[in-house]
Amino acid sequence: MAILFDSTSRLFTLKTNHSMYQMKADRYGVLLHTWFGMKSSAFDYSYRISYADRGFSGNPYDAEDDRTYSLDVLPQEFPTYGSGDYRSTALKIRYPDGTSACELRYLKHEINEGKYSLPGLPAIYADSADTLSDTLIITLEDTRHMFYVHLYYGVMEGLDIITRAVCVENHSEADIYIENIQSACIDYLHGNFDLHTFYGRHVKERNYQRAPLTHGIQSIGSTRGTSSHQYNPFLILSDRDTTEDHGNCYGFSLLYSGDFLGSAELDQYDQTRLLLGIHPDNFCFCIKPQERFYAPETAMAYSCHGLGELSRIFHRTYRSHLCRGKWTNERRPVLLNAWEGVYFDFDGKKLVQMAKDAANLGVELFVMDDGWFGKRDLDVSGLGDWIVNEEKLGCSLLELSDAIHDLGLQFGIWFEPEGINEDSNLYRTHPDWVLKVPGKSPTRSRLQLLLDFSREDVRDYIFTHICKVLDSARIEYLKWDLNRSLADLYSAALPAERQGEVMHRYVLGLYDMLEKLIQRYPDMLIEGCSGGGGRFDAGMLYYTPQIWCSDDTDAIERLSIQYGTSFGYPVSTMGSHVSHCPNEQTGRIAPLHTRATVAMSGTFGYELDVNKISEEEKEIVKSQIIEFRKYYSLIQYGNYYRLTNPDQTTAYHGWEFVAADGSEALLCLVALQIHPNGPGYWMRLKGLKEDSVYVIDGREYPGDVLMNGGLLLPQATEEYQSFRIHIIEKSNF
Ligand code: GLA
Repeated sequence: MAILFDSTSRLFTLKTNHSMYQMKADRYGVLLHTWFGMKSSAFDYSYRISYADRGFSGNPYDAEDDRTYSLDVLPQEFPTYGSGDYRSTALKIRYPDGTSACELRYLKHEINEGKYSLPGLPAIYADSADTLSDTLIITLEDTRHMFYVHLYYGVMEGLDIITRAVCVENHSEADIYIENIQSACIDYLHGNFDLHTFYGRHVKERNYQRAPLTHGIQSIGSTRGTSSHQYNPFLILSDRDTTEDHGNCYGFSLLYSGDFLGSAELDQYDQTRLLLGIHPDNFCFCIKPQERFYAPETAMAYSCHGLGELSRIFHRTYRSHLCRGKWTNERRPVLLNAWEGVYFDFDGKKLVQMAKDAANLGVELFVMDDGWFGKRDLDVSGLGDWIVNEEKLGCSLLELSDAIHDLGLQFGIWFEPEGINEDSNLYRTHPDWVLKVPGKSPTRSRLQLLLDFSREDVRDYIFTHICKVLDSARIEYLKWDLNRSLADLYSAALPAERQGEVMHRYVLGLYDMLEKLIQRYPDMLIEGCSGGGGRFDAGMLYYTPQIWCSDDTDAIERLSIQYGTSFGYPVSTMGSHVSHCPNEQTGRIAPLHTRATVAMSGTFGYELDVNKISEEEKEIVKSQIIEFRKYYSLIQYGNYYRLTNPDQTTAYHGWEFVAADGSEALLCLVALQIHPNGPGYWMRLKGLKEDSVYVIDGREYPGDVLMNGGLLLPQATEEYQSFRIHIIEKSNF
């Protein structure tokens, strides 16, 4: 059992293969957090807590005249607003009498075999014997007897992952309101941390940032109704001297696709509190008597071997215990998406011609992007009218999909189910179905509004129309896009006192519809997208095993975007395509080989008009697709190693995929600068077997030598030249 409970000391110890998490219900029933980090014996770590009479840090009444006991100082598992803890807290309730002061005390717990799931919300799952998992549910009681808080813990031993989620249950006779609920709170007794976050903007997502934690609160978050391009709901705390390969670090990933807040507070006693959960700004949720509210799951991991190992823990978990369905383990088709090739300017004939050319190159799936429905020749109209524009296509969707299948290709199609243009039949019929604040003109973005996905009737309508389209033709892939942030959070279907629920209900509605879609079309490959990577989060990955990483397809820009993304997410989830040169977004020219090197470190596909590339390039594309298939398992299921940071490298940027058994590896390199008569460069490899011999281009090297001395890199002779170097263990050669 991975969960130990000592009834005398009321100590809970959760153990994975390499990490340990500990809590203790103390003499007053307060649930203290005593440890998260390196695994050891289940000794009571509360010995590390010091008690002192501290000025202006008050004492709870149950502590009687003990002036050394203060919730303002103690490390806690689920601190509450108004309890005497003046730091950021995990829960703020508005009681029926308008007050908010809340105290929680331990009531009971249960330990169950297997991993819990959450109604209507994504959750990591364990589906095989190799993923031993257990669930602990600790119930805390509100001292005013209005509600219970159930703290959920999932312990995935072999994966080295611990999850947390929270459920609040109203057992009073009145409505209570949750004004803030954070899914995870981790209190550390020390504060010498660096905080690692991922910031960005449209076409430049998930830039990596590392900064020392200083006194005060440092936070990232989103109030855009999506996880956003601006910040990703994934954070890392590490020791100051932690590197890729050494040192302590702790990762926190929120499985949620809406507003979020991640904060780290260094307090007056140099202690650190990390909180992660729904952003409270657009949130106030009413729980009626006997109702329950579930806050989303946070996945947590600890590594004492640096950031690289921490990432690999998340990669393994998300690849096969978050992504679900057929495409979790099956090879995904190499696709060609028509978007950057033709944008809105196409008809059926043109698409079939593109598909024909693509099929000749070895492409397996052809995707028709935006523009096939309603009146949609530009992005200003038609959104919401999910009716095939046969006039534009010059044929029915079935005829088009048949023609594409006749070429030996699968067929995919784009939707933006949540979006609506005012210039659409749907808006003209149901103007009240959009998010819009009464008396205020709505905020437009890309000249579109959003449907109120918190409403079941609205979702049902869209679902029915999407299914009609999907059932009318042979469709194996669906791209689910969203091209704006939420605004005007008002739902015509909710009373005034429940308007604070709209954002969260919207996200629950989105999940509900995605779940229905995957239940109805279990074989369909669904790719998430939000203007590229605006909703690239672990919540979406539960429904869509891959997400378009960025609308920026420039291979050199993508180095940073995919590098940042790799900290929390595996390459199997990163939608990545080779596009035209000069690049549409930056005008940069990068060799076709390099564009493929970068796209292959993702789901791999093309986003161009094959007609516009030369015969010589077509031959190169053919060989790229063959090469990608050859390396597929190594890339998608191998261990991923970051070798350099592209934003701090002036020579070669490198990364590496290593087979789980160490029998082969693929080294990818991109020359970022080129100099005549330049110096020699070496790259130290990682993850190989020290005592094995490896063969590279016919030459033999011991594994330990490649990892210490490094590999002498080839001289680049072309700007942004890249290299894909296969490394094979001699015994497998
Ligand atoms: C978004 C997506 C693109 C493309 C367009 C279509 O920007 O990220 O890939 O689908 O929408 O309008």
